[in-house]
Amino acid sequence: MADTIRFDDKVVVVTGAGNGLGRTYALQLAQRGAKVVVNDLGGSTDGKGDDRSAASRVVEEIRAAGGEATANFDSVATQAGGANIIKTALDAYGRVDAVIANAGILRDRSFSKLSQEELDIILDVHLRGTMFTVQPAFNWMRENGGGNIVMTASPSGLFGAFGQANYCAAKLGIVGMMRVMAIEGAKAGIKVNALAPTAATRLTATAGMSGEATEPKTPEEDPMSTGRVSPLVLALAHQSCPASGEIFNAGCGWISRAVVAVNEGVLLDDFSPEGVAAQWDAIRDPSRLTVPVDATDYWRMIQAKTGATG
Ligand code: NAI
Repeated sequence: MADTIRFDDKVVVVTGAGNGLGRTYALQLAQRGAKVVVNDLGGSTDGKGDDRSAASRVVEEIRAAGGEATANFDSVATQAGGANIIKTALDAYGRVDAVIANAGILRDRSFSKLSQEELDIILDVHLRGTMFTVQPAFNWMRENGGGNIVMTASPSGLFGAFGQANYCAAKLGIVGMMRVMAIEGAKAGIKVNALAPTAATRLTATAGMSGEATEPKTPEEDPMSTGRVSPLVLALAHQSCPASGEIFNAGCGWISRAVVAVNEGVLLDDFSPEGVAAQWDAIRDPSRLTVPVDATDYWRMIQAKTGATG
Protein backbone atom coordinates (compact mmCIF):
# COMPACT_ATOMS: atom_id res chain seq x y z
CA MET A 1 0.00 0.00 0.00
CA ALA A 2 1.43 3.39 -1.03
CA ASP A 3 1.80 6.14 1.57
CA THR A 4 -1.20 8.43 1.93
CA ILE A 5 -0.91 11.46 -0.34
CA ARG A 6 -1.42 14.50 1.90
CA PHE A 7 -0.90 18.21 1.28
CA ASP A 8 -0.81 19.46 4.88
CA ASP A 9 1.08 22.80 5.10
CA LYS A 10 1.25 22.89 1.29
CA VAL A 11 -0.11 25.69 -0.85
CA VAL A 12 -1.50 24.80 -4.26
CA VAL A 13 -2.70 27.21 -6.95
CA VAL A 14 -5.33 25.88 -9.37
CA THR A 15 -6.26 28.10 -12.30
CA GLY A 16 -9.72 27.77 -13.83
CA ALA A 17 -10.86 26.07 -10.63
CA GLY A 18 -14.41 27.45 -10.70
CA ASN A 19 -15.76 24.64 -12.87
CA GLY A 20 -15.10 21.19 -14.28
CA LEU A 21 -11.72 19.57 -13.76
CA GLY A 22 -10.17 22.47 -11.84
CA ARG A 23 -13.01 22.53 -9.34
CA THR A 24 -12.56 18.83 -8.63
CA TYR A 25 -8.79 19.26 -8.20
CA ALA A 26 -9.32 22.17 -5.79
CA LEU A 27 -11.92 20.34 -3.67
CA GLN A 28 -9.83 17.18 -3.43
CA LEU A 29 -6.58 19.03 -2.69
CA ALA A 30 -8.32 20.88 0.15
CA GLN A 31 -9.78 17.61 1.47
CA ARG A 32 -6.21 16.33 1.67
CA GLY A 33 -4.99 19.30 3.66
CA ALA A 34 -3.81 21.80 1.02
CA LYS A 35 -4.39 25.51 1.26
CA VAL A 36 -5.80 26.22 -2.18
CA VAL A 37 -5.84 29.36 -4.29
CA VAL A 38 -8.95 28.97 -6.42
CA ASN A 39 -8.44 31.11 -9.51
CA ASP A 40 -11.23 31.64 -12.02
CA LEU A 41 -12.17 34.53 -14.25
CA GLY A 42 -15.67 33.08 -14.53
CA GLY A 43 -16.23 33.65 -18.24
CA SER A 44 -18.08 31.57 -20.81
CA THR A 45 -16.55 28.53 -22.50
CA ASP A 46 -15.51 30.71 -25.44
CA GLY A 47 -13.82 33.23 -23.16
CA LYS A 48 -16.42 35.99 -22.98
CA GLY A 49 -17.34 37.89 -19.82
CA ASP A 50 -16.35 37.36 -16.22
CA ASP A 51 -18.18 36.32 -13.07
CA ARG A 52 -16.71 36.11 -9.59
CA SER A 53 -19.29 33.59 -8.43
CA ALA A 54 -17.46 30.64 -10.08
CA ALA A 55 -14.33 30.87 -7.90
CA SER A 56 -16.27 32.15 -4.87
CA ARG A 57 -18.61 29.14 -4.87
CA VAL A 58 -15.71 26.68 -4.85
CA VAL A 59 -13.99 28.57 -2.02
CA GLU A 60 -17.25 28.45 -0.05
CA GLU A 61 -17.56 24.70 -0.69
CA ILE A 62 -14.01 24.12 0.53
CA ARG A 63 -14.53 26.23 3.65
CA ALA A 64 -17.88 24.57 4.38
CA ALA A 65 -16.07 21.23 4.37
CA GLY A 66 -13.51 22.57 6.86
CA GLY A 67 -10.75 23.31 4.32
CA GLU A 68 -8.73 26.43 3.56
CA ALA A 69 -8.99 28.36 0.30
CA THR A 70 -8.67 31.84 -1.13
CA ALA A 71 -10.29 33.07 -4.33
CA ASN A 72 -8.57 34.92 -7.14
CA PHE A 73 -10.53 36.33 -10.06
CA ASP A 74 -7.74 37.39 -12.42
CA SER A 75 -7.47 36.27 -16.02
CA VAL A 76 -4.44 34.06 -16.63
CA ALA A 77 -4.21 35.64 -20.08
CA THR A 78 -2.25 38.71 -18.98
CA GLN A 79 1.16 38.90 -17.35
CA ALA A 80 -0.26 41.11 -14.57
CA GLY A 81 -3.08 38.60 -13.99
CA GLY A 82 -0.70 35.65 -13.78
CA ALA A 83 1.61 37.52 -11.41
CA ASN A 84 -1.35 38.46 -9.19
CA ILE A 85 -2.56 34.86 -8.99
CA ILE A 86 0.78 33.77 -7.52
CA LYS A 87 0.91 36.93 -5.35
CA THR A 88 -2.47 35.89 -3.92
CA ALA A 89 -0.89 32.62 -2.76
CA LEU A 90 2.19 34.33 -1.32
CA ASP A 91 0.16 37.06 0.42
CA ALA A 92 -2.38 34.63 1.89
CA TYR A 93 -0.14 31.71 2.78
CA GLY A 94 3.50 32.76 2.29
CA ARG A 95 4.45 30.03 -0.17
CA VAL A 96 3.51 28.10 -3.30
CA ASP A 97 4.25 24.39 -3.45
CA ALA A 98 2.35 23.42 -6.57
CA VAL A 99 0.58 25.03 -9.49
CA ILE A 100 -2.00 23.33 -11.64
CA ALA A 101 -2.34 25.45 -14.80
CA ASN A 102 -5.77 24.36 -15.92
CA ALA A 103 -7.79 27.39 -17.09
CA GLY A 104 -9.05 27.00 -20.62
CA ILE A 105 -11.57 27.92 -23.30
CA LEU A 106 -12.43 26.82 -26.84
CA ARG A 107 -12.92 28.70 -30.12
CA ASP A 108 -13.23 25.86 -32.60
CA ARG A 109 -13.03 26.64 -36.33
CA SER A 110 -11.81 24.63 -39.29
CA PHE A 111 -8.29 25.62 -40.29
CA SER A 112 -9.29 27.19 -43.62
CA LYS A 113 -11.60 29.63 -41.81
CA LEU A 114 -9.54 30.23 -38.67
CA SER A 115 -9.22 33.96 -37.94
CA GLN A 116 -6.36 35.73 -36.26
CA GLU A 117 -8.67 36.68 -33.38
CA GLU A 118 -9.58 33.00 -32.85
CA LEU A 119 -5.92 32.06 -32.86
CA ASP A 120 -4.90 34.92 -30.56
CA ILE A 121 -7.46 34.37 -27.83
CA ILE A 122 -6.65 30.66 -27.61
CA LEU A 123 -2.90 31.31 -27.51
CA ASP A 124 -3.52 34.04 -24.91
CA VAL A 125 -5.51 31.89 -22.50
CA HIS A 126 -3.73 28.56 -22.92
CA LEU A 127 -0.13 29.13 -23.98
CA ARG A 128 0.61 32.64 -22.70
CA GLY A 129 -1.77 32.11 -19.76
CA THR A 130 0.18 29.06 -18.66
CA MET A 131 3.49 30.91 -18.98
CA PHE A 132 2.18 34.05 -17.21
CA THR A 133 0.89 32.06 -14.22
CA VAL A 134 3.58 29.46 -13.92
CA GLN A 135 6.66 31.65 -14.44
CA PRO A 136 6.35 33.67 -11.19
CA ALA A 137 5.71 30.42 -9.27
CA PHE A 138 8.66 28.71 -10.99
CA ASN A 139 10.92 31.60 -10.00
CA TRP A 140 9.69 31.50 -6.40
CA MET A 141 10.19 27.70 -6.28
CA ARG A 142 13.75 28.06 -7.63
CA GLU A 143 14.66 30.13 -4.59
CA ASN A 144 12.66 28.09 -2.09
CA GLY A 145 13.42 24.41 -2.49
CA GLY A 146 11.39 23.40 -5.53
CA GLY A 147 7.81 22.42 -6.20
CA ASN A 148 5.46 20.67 -8.58
CA ILE A 149 3.85 22.09 -11.69
CA VAL A 150 1.12 20.45 -13.73
CA MET A 151 0.40 21.97 -17.13
CA THR A 152 -2.76 21.08 -19.03
CA ALA A 153 -2.37 19.77 -22.56
CA SER A 154 -5.08 17.85 -24.42
CA PRO A 155 -5.55 14.67 -26.45
CA SER A 156 -6.49 17.01 -29.33
CA GLY A 157 -3.15 18.76 -29.02
CA LEU A 158 -1.21 15.51 -28.90
CA PHE A 159 -3.09 13.57 -31.53
CA GLY A 160 -5.02 16.16 -33.60
CA ALA A 161 -8.74 16.92 -33.85
CA PHE A 162 -10.90 18.45 -36.57
CA GLY A 163 -11.62 22.15 -36.05
CA GLN A 164 -9.08 22.71 -33.30
CA ALA A 165 -5.95 24.02 -35.04
CA ASN A 166 -5.71 27.02 -32.66
CA TYR A 167 -6.30 24.91 -29.56
CA CYS A 168 -3.95 22.13 -30.67
CA ALA A 169 -1.19 24.64 -31.43
CA ALA A 170 -1.55 26.11 -27.94
CA LYS A 171 -1.73 22.74 -26.20
CA LEU A 172 1.31 21.29 -27.94
CA GLY A 173 3.09 24.59 -27.28
CA ILE A 174 2.43 23.98 -23.59
CA VAL A 175 4.06 20.56 -23.92
CA GLY A 176 7.15 22.14 -25.47
CA MET A 177 7.30 24.72 -22.68
CA MET A 178 6.90 21.97 -20.10
CA ARG A 179 9.84 19.99 -21.53
CA VAL A 180 12.16 22.97 -21.21
CA MET A 181 10.92 23.95 -17.76
CA ALA A 182 11.53 20.39 -16.53
CA ILE A 183 15.12 20.60 -17.79
CA GLU A 184 15.73 24.10 -16.42
CA GLY A 185 14.00 23.43 -13.09
CA ALA A 186 15.54 20.03 -12.33
CA LYS A 187 18.48 21.29 -10.25
CA ALA A 188 16.16 23.42 -8.13
CA GLY A 189 13.87 20.47 -7.38
CA ILE A 190 11.03 21.64 -9.63
CA LYS A 191 9.05 18.89 -11.32
CA VAL A 192 6.95 19.83 -14.32
CA ASN A 193 4.61 17.49 -16.17
CA ALA A 194 1.74 17.79 -18.64
CA LEU A 195 -1.68 16.22 -18.41
CA ALA A 196 -4.00 15.40 -21.32
CA PRO A 197 -7.39 14.92 -19.65
CA THR A 198 -10.69 13.52 -20.88
CA ALA A 199 -13.78 14.16 -18.74
CA ALA A 200 -17.33 15.46 -19.09
CA THR A 201 -17.42 19.20 -18.36
CA ARG A 202 -19.19 22.25 -19.78
CA LEU A 203 -16.24 22.54 -22.19
CA THR A 204 -16.70 19.07 -23.68
CA ALA A 205 -20.44 19.75 -23.91
CA THR A 206 -19.65 22.59 -26.34
CA ALA A 207 -17.47 20.22 -28.37
CA GLY A 208 -20.37 17.79 -28.83
CA MET A 209 -19.25 15.27 -26.20
CA SER A 210 -21.27 14.61 -23.07
CA GLY A 211 -21.23 17.56 -20.69
CA GLU A 212 -21.25 18.06 -16.96
CA ALA A 213 -24.51 17.43 -15.13
CA THR A 214 -25.73 20.16 -12.79
CA GLU A 215 -24.25 18.13 -9.97
CA PRO A 216 -20.96 16.61 -11.12
CA LYS A 217 -21.14 12.85 -10.84
CA THR A 218 -18.82 10.68 -8.79
CA PRO A 219 -16.18 8.46 -10.45
CA GLU A 220 -18.25 5.44 -9.43
CA GLU A 221 -21.41 6.82 -11.11
CA ASP A 222 -19.92 8.10 -14.35
CA PRO A 223 -16.89 6.92 -16.35
CA MET A 224 -16.52 10.49 -17.67
CA SER A 225 -16.36 11.95 -14.16
CA THR A 226 -13.65 14.52 -13.47
CA GLY A 227 -12.96 12.33 -10.43
CA ARG A 228 -11.38 9.75 -12.73
CA VAL A 229 -8.80 12.33 -13.87
CA SER A 230 -8.09 14.03 -10.54
CA PRO A 231 -6.22 11.11 -8.87
CA LEU A 232 -3.41 11.48 -11.43
CA VAL A 233 -3.34 15.26 -11.06
CA LEU A 234 -3.04 15.08 -7.27
CA ALA A 235 -0.26 12.50 -7.60
CA LEU A 236 1.56 14.80 -10.07
CA ALA A 237 1.12 17.82 -7.78
CA HIS A 238 2.55 15.97 -4.78
CA GLN A 239 6.21 16.08 -3.77
CA SER A 240 6.40 12.27 -4.03
CA CYS A 241 5.83 12.39 -7.83
CA PRO A 242 8.76 10.54 -9.45
CA ALA A 243 8.28 12.04 -12.92
CA SER A 244 9.33 15.31 -14.55
CA GLY A 245 9.17 16.38 -18.18
CA GLU A 246 6.57 13.74 -19.00
CA ILE A 247 3.12 13.75 -20.60
CA PHE A 248 0.29 11.77 -19.03
CA ASN A 249 -3.19 10.98 -20.30
CA ALA A 250 -6.12 10.46 -17.97
CA GLY A 251 -9.63 9.65 -19.09
CA CYS A 252 -12.37 7.48 -17.58
CA GLY A 253 -9.83 6.03 -15.18
CA TRP A 254 -7.34 4.98 -17.85
CA ILE A 255 -4.01 6.56 -16.97
CA SER A 256 -1.23 6.33 -19.54
CA ARG A 257 1.92 8.08 -20.66
CA ALA A 258 2.25 9.72 -24.06
CA VAL A 259 5.74 10.04 -25.51
CA VAL A 260 7.52 11.78 -28.35
CA ALA A 261 9.57 8.95 -29.80
CA VAL A 262 11.93 8.20 -32.66
CA ASN A 263 11.67 5.02 -34.73
CA GLU A 264 14.56 2.95 -36.06
CA GLY A 265 14.55 4.92 -39.33
CA VAL A 266 17.01 4.22 -42.14
CA LEU A 267 20.53 5.27 -42.93
CA LEU A 268 20.62 6.95 -46.34
CA ASP A 269 23.36 5.91 -48.72
CA ASP A 270 21.68 7.51 -51.73
CA PHE A 271 21.46 11.21 -50.75
CA SER A 272 18.64 12.07 -53.13
CA PRO A 273 14.85 12.37 -52.81
CA GLU A 274 14.66 9.09 -54.75
CA GLY A 275 16.80 7.53 -52.03
CA VAL A 276 14.16 8.61 -49.51
CA ALA A 277 11.24 7.55 -51.73
CA ALA A 278 12.71 4.05 -52.05
CA GLN A 279 12.56 3.59 -48.28
CA TRP A 280 9.27 5.23 -47.23
CA ASP A 281 7.96 2.07 -45.52
CA ALA A 282 10.99 1.72 -43.25
CA ILE A 283 11.17 5.48 -42.60
CA ARG A 284 7.52 5.52 -41.47
CA ASP A 285 7.51 2.20 -39.58
CA PRO A 286 6.41 3.08 -36.01
CA SER A 287 7.51 -0.20 -34.41
CA ARG A 288 10.64 -0.20 -32.23
CA LEU A 289 10.51 3.31 -30.78
CA THR A 290 13.08 5.08 -28.61
CA VAL A 291 12.17 8.02 -26.38
CA PRO A 292 14.96 10.65 -26.29
CA VAL A 293 15.36 12.31 -22.90
CA ASP A 294 16.03 15.70 -24.52
CA ALA A 295 17.51 17.23 -27.69
CA THR A 296 21.06 16.47 -26.54
CA ASP A 297 20.11 12.82 -26.12
CA TYR A 298 18.64 12.87 -29.64
CA TRP A 299 21.92 14.30 -30.95
CA ARG A 300 23.73 11.41 -29.23
CA MET A 301 21.38 9.04 -31.08
CA ILE A 302 22.33 10.66 -34.41
CA GLN A 303 25.99 10.29 -33.53
CA ALA A 304 25.59 6.63 -32.55
CA LYS A 305 23.70 5.83 -35.78
CA THR A 306 25.89 7.74 -38.18
CA GLY A 307 29.28 8.17 -36.55
CA ALA A 308 28.92 11.95 -36.95
CA THR A 309 30.86 13.98 -34.42
CA GLY A 310 29.68 17.51 -35.31
P1 NAI B 1 -14.38 24.15 -17.81
O1 NAI B 1 -14.94 25.13 -18.76
O2 NAI B 1 -15.33 23.34 -17.00
O3 NAI B 1 -13.35 24.84 -16.82
C1 NAI B 1 -12.38 25.75 -17.27
C2 NAI B 1 -12.35 26.93 -16.32
O4 NAI B 1 -11.34 27.85 -16.74
C3 NAI B 1 -13.67 27.72 -16.30
O5 NAI B 1 -14.17 27.79 -14.98
C4 NAI B 1 -13.29 29.08 -16.85
O6 NAI B 1 -14.02 30.15 -16.25
C5 NAI B 1 -11.81 29.15 -16.51
N1 NAI B 1 -11.10 30.12 -17.35
C6 NAI B 1 -11.21 30.27 -18.68
N2 NAI B 1 -10.44 31.27 -19.11
C7 NAI B 1 -9.82 31.77 -18.01
C8 NAI B 1 -8.88 32.82 -17.83
N3 NAI B 1 -8.45 33.56 -18.84
N4 NAI B 1 -8.43 33.04 -16.58
C9 NAI B 1 -8.88 32.30 -15.52
N5 NAI B 1 -9.79 31.32 -15.65
C10 NAI B 1 -10.25 31.05 -16.89
O7 NAI B 1 -13.43 23.17 -18.67
P2 NAI B 1 -12.61 21.84 -18.30
O8 NAI B 1 -13.04 20.78 -19.23
O9 NAI B 1 -12.64 21.60 -16.85
O10 NAI B 1 -11.13 22.27 -18.76
C11 NAI B 1 -10.01 22.38 -17.91
C12 NAI B 1 -8.76 22.27 -18.73
O11 NAI B 1 -8.65 20.95 -19.29
C13 NAI B 1 -8.67 23.23 -19.92
O12 NAI B 1 -7.35 23.68 -20.07
C14 NAI B 1 -9.06 22.36 -21.10
O13 NAI B 1 -8.56 22.86 -22.31
C15 NAI B 1 -8.43 21.05 -20.69
N6 NAI B 1 -8.99 19.89 -21.36
C16 NAI B 1 -10.21 19.38 -20.97
C17 NAI B 1 -10.69 18.25 -21.59
C18 NAI B 1 -11.94 17.58 -21.15
O14 NAI B 1 -12.22 16.46 -21.63
N7 NAI B 1 -12.71 18.18 -20.24
C19 NAI B 1 -10.00 17.64 -22.73
C20 NAI B 1 -8.72 18.22 -23.01
C21 NAI B 1 -8.26 19.31 -22.35
